[in-house]
Amino acid sequence: MKAVVYDKKSHTDKLVFCDIDKPVPNDSEVLIRVHAVSLNAADYRSMKMGIIPKRKIFGADIAGRIESVGKNISLFKPGDEVLGDLASYGFGGLAGYVTAPERLLVFKPQQISFDEAAALPMAALTALQALRNIANIQKGQKVLIVGSAGGVGTYAIQFAAYFGAEVTGVCSSDNVQQTLSLGAGYVIDYTKEDFTEGDKRYNIILGINGGYPLSAYRKMLTSDGTYVMVGGSLSQIFKSILFGRLLSLGSKKFKSLSAKANKTDLEFVVKLLEEGVIKPVIDRRYSLDKTADAINYLKQGHSKGKVVINIAFALTHPFLLSLRLLA
Ligand SMILES: NC(=O)c1ccc[n+]([C@@H]2O[C@H](COP(=O)([O-])OP(=O)(O)OC[C@H]3O[C@@H](n4cnc5c(N)ncnc54)[C@H](OP(=O)(O)O)[C@@H]3O)[C@@H](O)[C@H]2O)c1
Repeated sequence: MKAVVYDKKSHTDKLVFCDIDKPVPNDSEVLIRVHAVSLNAADYRSMKMGIIPKRKIFGADIAGRIESVGKNISLFKPGDEVLGDLASYGFGGLAGYVTAPERLLVFKPQQISFDEAAALPMAALTALQALRNIANIQKGQKVLIVGSAGGVGTYAIQFAAYFGAEVTGVCSSDNVQQTLSLGAGYVIDYTKEDFTEGDKRYNIILGINGGYPLSAYRKMLTSDGTYVMVGGSLSQIFKSILFGRLLSLGSKKFKSLSAKANKTDLEFVVKLLEEGVIKPVIDRRYSLDKTADAINYLKQGHSKGKVVINIAFALTHPFLLSLRLLA
């Protein structure tokens, strides 16, 4: 099968598009023919930190069709369409096939495309868990989403609106309309306005991107407000973890999120997508052989929603591949 394999000796972005053996599922795994993968900061950050998956293949968020199942599998059968986040199971999605345990997978409804399904797991669950589990979002609260235009931010706006909050997004000029169209009542263009100087106070601030001073966030919280550190620059993440307890002295809370793959949450999110309550925003699509370009684009930090890799059938099917090569 075709795959994008990490090779630290390679000069071209350390990602090599090549042929490798198809994985063989064990008794407790399914074999999935991957149709689409969405990229996350976890892919390039793990790479940068030298945390390399066992099979040297990145790509956590996958959507595809089950090809075969191990003998202990009871929920799925060949032909079922599924999606899931495999970050806790060694990644492996940037390939024609991947193996996975059934606990990480949910059914993909027919009416949702593979691209949309792949765009869901990690980013949507991060936004959901930050707002619902960590910040305990309530109807009518004022929520500030700093970094409203990327993979996590576009879902955060939609979930906060779904929970009945008044949403303010922070993004650059290019993304103002997108932020409003996803359900934000207000938007602050950080290229024109220093939003940390505003008078408005928020019950919840999600720090998804950017590296704004934590003291400014503290000032912008209501007296019992909660700041949730989701992501941003590495220094911002370390500062939030180091000083979170100190900044939480008093009634304002500074918390950090470590999002987890969760089948119930993913089923909930899929249902909201089916009902048209949320929608994935897909910025760009790349073919598998252009994965390095896709990762370089994502790394620049200004994607508008999700970046998806299509694992074209022609790349994984030997007959179609030979036709393609003859053409
Ligand atoms: N805690 C967890 O469990 C967890 C889980 C998943 C992800 N994360 C982290 O969450 C962060 C965001 O992930 P993502 O997938 O959403 O990334 P992403 O899609 O790459 O985010 C790109 C977006 O960030 C916005 N942005 C860049 N600089 C900004 C700034 N100074 N102020 C406001 N917005 C800014 C950009 O909007 P503009 O172009 O408009 O600037 C762009 O749309 C990453 O750091 C990731 O590591 C954490």
